[in-house]
Amino acid sequence: MSLLEESPVLREMLATGEIVGATGERIKVRSQISLVFAEALYRTVLQFQPRVVLEVGMAYGVSTLAILAALQKLGSDGRLVSIDPHQTIYWHSGGLLNVSRAGLQSRHQWIGESDFLALPRLLAEGFQPGLAYIDGWHTFDYTLLDLYYIDKMLGVGGVVGLNDCGFPAVHKAINFFLSHRRYEEITVGLPTVYSRKREIFRRLAGDFSARGRRLCQDRYFKKLEVWEPTHDFFADF
Ligand SMILES: C[S@@+](CC[C@H](N)C(=O)[O-])C[C@H]1O[C@@H](n2cnc3c(N)ncnc32)[C@H](O)[C@@H]1O
Repeated sequence: MSLLEESPVLREMLATGEIVGATGERIKVRSQISLVFAEALYRTVLQFQPRVVLEVGMAYGVSTLAILAALQKLGSDGRLVSIDPHQTIYWHSGGLLNVSRAGLQSRHQWIGESDFLALPRLLAEGFQPGLAYIDGWHTFDYTLLDLYYIDKMLGVGGVVGLNDCGFPAVHKAINFFLSHRRYEEITVGLPTVYSRKREIFRRLAGDFSARGRRLCQDRYFKKLEVWEPTHDFFADF
């Protein structure tokens, strides 16, 4: 079954562009990942079958429902931990309401703190996701912080995916990650999309490097080994 067949709550949210809030008010859904990215996330969870998934950035819960639908379909005891400090106020608890409407609360834990507080604590507790999805605050420092801690939590073979890879800051953070850790990019059935206009300017400026080519689709990386560079290492990114 497809993601939308598997998740009627998600289907309705995407069809209407709205959710019903806790007091019956209609709320316009925004900031969500696109359906193609949600489907890729769903497929990737089905393919790698992680027992524990971590998500940074929940909003109204499109990515959350995609992950939970896959865990439910896998049928074992898989669970998802979502970090989002603004869920109750800014997002009207919409993501949590959706999880509850889908009947998936038993598989879900929400941490209402910023990533920079929650991630070090989860690491200290020995939290070990098999897959993580980053869609939080998209500046370079926050994205790198997410990647830094997720790398410490993932085992070899673990997978990390990111949304909004076309943002310059996310692109740079990925380049740092790939040049300072050992991961390989994996194909999850998404077409390669990049900014053609930027490509033209970049090439006119004499930059033909692969790392300068800013890909815009969701990107996923598999951990190849537990590795960190020596203290004096630096690779340009
Ligand atoms: C683009 S939205 C996420 C959309 C969601 N993944 C979906 O598919 O519907 C970004 C989310 O990141 C959350 N966020 C912002 N700063 C954060 C931080 N420091 N740590 C964790 N989450 C953060 C926001 O509250 C928001 O819910």
